[in-house]
Amino acid sequence: MASSNSPLSLSVLSHQLQPITILLLTMVLMSWFPHPIASSQCKKQPIIFNFGDSNSDTGGLTSGLGFPVNLPNGRSYFRRSTGRLSDGRLLLDFLCQSLNASFLSPYLDSLGGSKFRNGANFAVVGSSTLPKFVPFSLNIQIMQFLHFKARSLELVHAGSRNLINEEGFRNALYIIDIGQNDIADSFDKNLSYAQVTKRIPSVVTEINNAVKTLYNQGGRKFWIHNTGPLGCLPQKLWLVQTKDLDPHGCISSYNSAAQLFNEALRHMTLQLRSELVDATIVYVDIYAIKYDLIANSSKYGFSSPLMACCGSGGPPYNYNIRVTCGQPGYQVCDEGSRFVSWDGIHYTERANSIVASRVLSTAYSTPPTAFDFFCRN
Ligand SMILES: *[C@@H]1O[C@H](CO)[C@@H](O)[C@H](O)[C@H]1NC(C)=O
Ligand SMILES: *[C@@H]1O[C@H](CO)[C@@H](O)[C@H](O)[C@H]1NC(C)=O
Ligand SMILES: *[C@@H]1O[C@H](CO)[C@@H](O)[C@H](O)[C@H]1NC(C)=O
Repeated sequence: MASSNSPLSLSVLSHQLQPITILLLTMVLMSWFPHPIASSQCKKQPIIFNFGDSNSDTGGLTSGLGFPVNLPNGRSYFRRSTGRLSDGRLLLDFLCQSLNASFLSPYLDSLGGSKFRNGANFAVVGSSTLPKFVPFSLNIQIMQFLHFKARSLELVHAGSRNLINEEGFRNALYIIDIGQNDIADSFDKNLSYAQVTKRIPSVVTEINNAVKTLYNQGGRKFWIHNTGPLGCLPQKLWLVQTKDLDPHGCISSYNSAAQLFNEALRHMTLQLRSELVDATIVYVDIYAIKYDLIANSSKYGFSSPLMACCGSGGPPYNYNIRVTCGQPGYQVCDEGSRFVSWDGIHYTERANSIVASRVLSTAYSTPPTAFDFFCRN
């Protein structure tokens, strides 16, 4: 499992190297393994609202539907299952921690109470933009937000101090991370590549409508993630029989569709910036970050970037839809930190932490904007 240029081999090298070389080498390696740290410039308590799918669901599915998410999900950080589909924290969790803010509570957590002081998370596993008006499509999540806002303001006017007021809603950051399931569901329905990509404009229109609704409610700060390389997910690699694989072993057509979606989404943010001139709309290229993790996996100390840590069936993908992670009969790896994929669809905590440090670097953001921009003044 060990790869020749992982940091673990540093001690093997050290007897041949001068101390200064070791120091420099260590610094270079550390820059490859950065850890997101709390470096908040926030003047006020940051308030965040998030909309999306399982990539950012912090417990919405379990709160909303009682759907069990079992250990080993959560094993490496929380030491219990929190409803997150990962062994630990998600990208959204690392982003919150970078501001020294609490993790976002799922909106559907009926026991959440005053935990909604720093915002709420509307993301739920499996969500897409289309079809609309089904739980928990993006437009339903936005409707839930509108209800949340109206109810919060009503309670604030009645004297409640533990909820977000008008100013809080205005200054909040609105994050959207959705689209992966729209593309994946189309492929799962056996639509042709041409049919899949034909649906992209209507998916992007839904995201556009969501931003405009939030803007009309007074929101001015938006943070929009594009979608990752769908064709590199072990689940897809296992499902698809005749595969057109790229040089890194990912399904080319799935990745091309994801990139077409991303291009349309990027174009949407360009247009919105000229329409909503007093808004800040940041577009973040998650695809580039995640594809680099897979293409250059050994550089980051990952062993098999296309194999799930938790699943069944063993190599090459360790995925089988009949025995998925947490279901009777699953197998789980010892070192999740050596895997990009946790369960065949979602990333491990370690992969998420690297993605987060890249997002926080601003190098993948348009315009290049520090994540804490919304809470600085
Ligand atoms: C982080 O939050 C904790 C608790 O909310 C607080 O005590 C601490 O001062 C904060 N640290 C920074 C660097 O803002
Ligand atoms: C898609 O095609 C595969 C293989 O031809 C078949 O097994 C599967 O049932 C089809 N799925 C749908 C939703 O039609
Ligand atoms: C892999 O790393 C190299 C060197 O840093 C970089 O040039 C290349 O773009 C990376 N590959 C991907 C797919 O990001």
